[in-house]
Amino acid sequence: MADFTQRVFSGVQPSGNLHLGNYLGAVRRWVALQDSYPCIFCVVDLHAITVYQDPSALETATREVAAAYLAAGIDAKAHIVFNQSRVPEHAELAWLFNCVVRLGWLNRMTQFKDKAGKDREAASAGLYVYPALMAADILAYRATHVPVGEDQKQHLELTRDIAAKFNHDYAARIAERGLGVPMTMGEQEVQGFFPLTEPLIEGPATRVMSLRDGTKKMSKSDPSDLSRINLTDDEDQISKKIRKAKTDPDGLPSELAGLAGRPEADNLVGIYAALAGRSREAVLAEFGGRQFSEFKPALADLAVASLSPVSARMREHLADPAGIDAVLRDGAERARAIAAETIAQTKAIMGLLND
Ligand code: TYM
Repeated sequence: MADFTQRVFSGVQPSGNLHLGNYLGAVRRWVALQDSYPCIFCVVDLHAITVYQDPSALETATREVAAAYLAAGIDAKAHIVFNQSRVPEHAELAWLFNCVVRLGWLNRMTQFKDKAGKDREAASAGLYVYPALMAADILAYRATHVPVGEDQKQHLELTRDIAAKFNHDYAARIAERGLGVPMTMGEQEVQGFFPLTEPLIEGPATRVMSLRDGTKKMSKSDPSDLSRINLTDDEDQISKKIRKAKTDPDGLPSELAGLAGRPEADNLVGIYAALAGRSREAVLAEFGGRQFSEFKPALADLAVASLSPVSARMREHLADPAGIDAVLRDGAERARAIAAETIAQTKAIMGLLND
């Protein structure tokens, strides 16, 4: 039976410093996937402008995110790295999906509620339809796997809903044009044009929390820089932030159950596990019974040893902005070749004359 070509797509917004959450929850996991799938990694600048961005800061941040991808070990020759606005098909498919997605679905999106805050009326229309653009990013390449952190789960469910509704609404036309791939939807065998993308949300760091408050996600927008470790932080800053990280007075437990109700302890153990490529259980087996005064320096050493080479390589890339732009331009060209074909087929399926 024919199947969708396996392909990975993911992205990061260039809306501020990349932090440890982005790195452990996403970028570092992408590096490992490169051996198993053809991958497309995007700097999603059209998503960033759903809230106002200073134009020159946006240019800098776009190059910084691209530099972080390369520094982390993404191979831009074997795979594809580009910035979203260079491939106009993303915006085009987003419009088509705006006509598929239902208002009721968008109204459920918690990220919109969080980002719009109390004054919904003042939020941009782009922020509201953001999830349709995200679905377009993924489905322009008919990507089958999307590695992200936990906070993107709801958006990926919406992406599947959009794909399923499109496949359902245009089922006859997809079959008639021979553009479908056999797939199972519920109990039924149907011809689908878009895959139902699998989220890959795995490992001990799918939700890295703030170093100042273990109940809040580590985020670019937290006003306290002590709440996050940025990929551009130097060794002293990394060590200082870990030293100052909030903890509780108890020592570390030997078993996972002992982390229940201790969000800060849980977070630091998760970070250690992700950096060391070990499970939380293994970390607790080693550090159980020890105090944070011992654990924190070990964590700081590990964080410095893992992150310093990445930030050093990032600085090297950033010293050559023209080199980064060349990578992004080349990636966009290759991405566009794939996306353009998907859009042409999508339009033909929908009855939009375009040849
Ligand atoms: P963004 O830019 O907020 O974050 C980029 C990636 O980092 C992950 N992440 C985290 N993981 C663990 N702990 C954290 N504290 C943490 N904070 C962020 C995010 O889950 C994400 O994987 N909407 C997306 C960008 C996007 C995208 C896409 C992703 C646009 N189109 C298509 C995948 C596929 C976003 O705002 O991510």
